[in-house]
Amino acid sequence: MAKVMIVGASGGIANGLMQHYLAAGWQVDALSRQPAIIEQEGLNWYQLDESNEVVLNDTLEQCFSDTVDVIFLCQGWLHDEARQPEKAIAQLKPAQLEQALTINLFSPARYLQALMPWLFRTPNIRVLVLSAKVGSITDNSLGGWYSYRISKAALNMLVKTASIELRRRNKTASLVAVHPGTTATALSAPFQARVPEQQLQQPAETAARLAKVAAALTCEQSGHLLHWDGSSLPY
Ligand SMILES: NC(=O)c1ccc[n+]([C@@H]2O[C@H](COP(=O)([O-])OP(=O)(O)OC[C@H]3O[C@@H](n4cnc5c(N)ncnc54)[C@H](OP(=O)(O)O)[C@@H]3O)[C@@H](O)[C@H]2O)c1
Repeated sequence: MAKVMIVGASGGIANGLMQHYLAAGWQVDALSRQPAIIEQEGLNWYQLDESNEVVLNDTLEQCFSDTVDVIFLCQGWLHDEARQPEKAIAQLKPAQLEQALTINLFSPARYLQALMPWLFRTPNIRVLVLSAKVGSITDNSLGGWYSYRISKAALNMLVKTASIELRRRNKTASLVAVHPGTTATALSAPFQARVPEQQLQQPAETAARLAKVAAALTCEQSGHLLHWDGSSLPY
């Protein structure tokens, strides 16, 4: 049975991915800081906080007791009740930038660090890190959203750099950053009214698109920032 690992499993897109792969008959290993939000045959839910290195390594050891085919890292933060994305540099504050870096960069970095020994020795493993097109420096024509853009641009560099290290040890692996497209989740909730209806995807639609990208992923694409349609975006 094919197996997918989904990190940050309580999130909107992660939940869509979980439902998609379970419906397709895959084994799903869901990793989250939250207790299980669903129980279903084929689903193993692991509650952990990645800052605990021992628990993280033990959990990965359990997940890799069978072959893992695909991994999605779905962590992300844009706003909360107290903080909205900055429109001007005058609004940029260390605490907000630190929060964005902690969740958008350090959390996936911590997972990639712990996963790397497994990625070195798993043939054809595909890792998709959810990033955002607004993290593309070349594509940035609107400005704003300082902390989120900065942290996603840094995440894209993390993925590129780790992909080079991975390629040296496992030529069949692929590690990419992916822009999932604007999706109706808690993360995008305050901004959905401004998005044309046909551009706002439901989590199930986004999950289907991301699963298609994962299925078609080649090791030649490793290190790329991909659009949800599978095309490469500029860094
Ligand atoms: N929704 C969109 O329109 C959109 C557009 C472009 C890019 N993205 C990206 O897609 C990814 C998923 O977004 P989403 O819309 O599904 O967001 P979401 O529903 O808000 O989910 C947020 C995710 O972040 C994790 N998280 C929250 N706080 C954390 C913390 N302190 N430490 C570690 N992890 C934390 C949660 O994992 P736990 O299960 O561990 O709590 C959860 O998986 C993100 O990387 C986001 O930037 C989304």
